[in-house]
This record gives sequence, C-alpha cells and structure tokens, in this order.
Amino acid sequence: MWRRLFSKPAEAAPPDARLTPELRARIQASFDESAQDEEHFPSTIDPRIYHVKLLQEHLGPLNGKRVLDVGCGKGRFARLFQEQEPSAEMWGLDISEEMLRYVPSGIRTQAGSMTDMPFAAGFFDAAYATESLEHAVEIEKAVAEMCRVVKTRGRIAIIDKNAEQWGKLATPEWERWFTRGELERLLRKHCREVSSRFISYWEDVEPDGLFLAWLAVK
Ligand SMILES: C[S@@+](CC[C@H](N)C(=O)[O-])C[C@H]1O[C@@H](n2cnc3c(N)ncnc32)[C@H](O)[C@@H]1O
Repeated sequence: MWRRLFSKPAEAAPPDARLTPELRARIQASFDESAQDEEHFPSTIDPRIYHVKLLQEHLGPLNGKRVLDVGCGKGRFARLFQEQEPSAEMWGLDISEEMLRYVPSGIRTQAGSMTDMPFAAGFFDAAYATESLEHAVEIEKAVAEMCRVVKTRGRIAIIDKNAEQWGKLATPEWERWFTRGELERLLRKHCREVSSRFISYWEDVEPDGLFLAWLAVK
C-alpha cells in the first residue's frame, strides 16, 4: 500500500544497523512528508480486514484496558478499536508528529521512537504494531521495548512482512522484514507464549506468504 513511494534497494538493512540521529531524522522526515498522502497512508481501515480481526481476537475485549498502538501512523487501527470499545484507553506512539496530527482526539498520542519508549514498565495491558516494526532499524530493542511497557500476562501482537518475500515490494533503505523464527526468538526472550502464522487481508483468501502475524503473551 505504501510502496510506490520508495525505490527498491538491493539488500534489506542489516540486523546490526543502528538508528543513528541522522537516520532517525531521515525516517521521521520521510514519514512526515508521507502523512499528506492519504491514498498510501490512510487514516481508516475496513473492519472486515483480517489484520483487524486477528488483533481483536488476540487482544481480547479492550474495554477498561490501556492499549498501545506502536508506530500508529494516523491511528487507523486505534481509531476503530476506540469506536468499537469506547471505554478502552487507546494510545498511539509514532516517530512522525505529522502522522500523529491525524489521530482522532479520543486517542492519546505520544511522539517518540519505539526503540526508546517514554512509558513506564508495565504501563499497558496490551500493545500491537502493524507494519511499523519493519522501520524500527534496531529491531531487538524495539521488540524489547514493546514487551517492557506491557504488564505481565499482557498481550502483544506484531503484523509485518516475511523476509522470505523480500524484493516483492519497493522499500526504503532502512526497512527490514522478518522470518517467523527471528521475531519468535526475540519475543521469547520476554514472553511466556509466542506463536506466528501467515495471514492475508481476507479471512477466506489463502495467505500468499507476504504477511505474518506474531502473537505473544508476556
Ligand atoms: C507503514 S506506517 C504504518 C502505520 C500504522 N501502523 C498503520 O498500520 O497504519 C509505519 C509507521 O511507523 C512509524 N515509525 C517508523 N519508525 C518508527 C520508530 N522508530 N518509532 C515509532 N514509529 C516509527 C512511521 O512514522 C509510520 O507512521
């Protein structure tokens, strides 16, 4: 969906890449600019899309819960969850303040990097990241941070792309995709239950191997 904006690099960013201040500023500027592009960076999502359903299924009822959307962009998932469960306390964290301008007012927003979250340990009942971890550069740090800010027995979900399909879409030079095993291993360092599965946009369409979901309980 976001792909026409970027040219395709030969290689994915290496696993030991660093989110230097210069790279962070570049990523931020890129997404600040992309915020104006509603076609490729939409503010809403069709609730029938399986990514939404799977998050709802794994996170369970959100009423009365404090939930973090990590790399929330314009908050298309959080917006829907807030509409459906108004007593949920939804939060969105994103590196791009321009993206956060589009997040509806009922959702609390925080500008910052998922590799260094400005939240206390165990502050959230649950956290999820959709197509944002792939931009975090310091992936192990970002996964550790997601797990740190969620309380024990809290639920964590990551939806992102499969490294085995690298090259299928154009990507910026900092982007990385993941194998099932890679993120499972990172999540297992902090979580008691971890699984992953291939998913597609529609429940009745066989996954083509591009999208993966990792589901965990801390
Ligand atoms: C492809 S968009 C996905 C947005 C949203 N999760 C969605 O599904 O609509 C990726 C988002 O990750 C954000 N992002 C990139 N690097 C980040 C970082 N280190 N920390 C927090 N957000 C980041 C970008 O600003 C952008 O809004």
